[in-house]
Amino acid sequence: MVTGGAFVTFEGIDGSGKSTQARRLAGLVRAQGREVVQTREPGGSPGAEEIRRLLVEGATDRWSAETEILLFTAARRDHLEKVIRPGVAAGKVVISDRFADSTRVYQGAARGELRQVVDNLHALMIGTEPDLTFVIDMDPEAALARGLARNSGEDRFEEFGAGFQTRLRQGFLDLAAEQPARFRVIDGARSEDAVAAEIAEHWQAAFG
Ligand code: TYD
Repeated sequence: MVTGGAFVTFEGIDGSGKSTQARRLAGLVRAQGREVVQTREPGGSPGAEEIRRLLVEGATDRWSAETEILLFTAARRDHLEKVIRPGVAAGKVVISDRFADSTRVYQGAARGELRQVVDNLHALMIGTEPDLTFVIDMDPEAALARGLARNSGEDRFEEFGAGFQTRLRQGFLDLAAEQPARFRVIDGARSEDAVAAEIAEHWQAAFG
């Protein structure tokens, strides 16, 4: 049985339900008597939350893809230093709603040739991968309807549209296929309880 710290991430397209599922797994792990740090990206630390506002609000063309990659990586570095590393080192289970796979997929999907830049910057400044990553997989049309319906004022990314979301979905599935040991792909087009139950099984198998 693993009792030390762990770093678990949830990934998926906008509106896939990953945030709800991250919260539910956090509840389960707490109920098992482990200390949990529930966090998210972009953001997760005070400094990174400030950078988040620069990223998610405003016009779609506010930043170039290159600037965006730098901002996401700056936010992630602060989150890593202040929250993720200290949490895992203290033996806690750190559960993050999004992490570096989102940059690989979102910024890589927007401008394919930038994927190498994303990987180089990650190696240089982050150099950490989760122990376990859940991809909540969903049909983009269904997910987009749910995502935009929320109307949070943070719709800069969601406004790119359904074609973009289709590329994102494929991007997450490709990453998962490349690294099957780290990823679990979960069919998100089911009831919240059914999705949570499958995630709980994977959690138990890996860390329970
Ligand atoms: P998030 O708060 O997870 O939104 P949602 O809950 O709607 O999925 O993320 C905000 C947006 O930022 C989302 O559209 C995904 C995007 N994003 C990137 O483009 N690159 C990244 O590295 C991260 C972490 C998020």
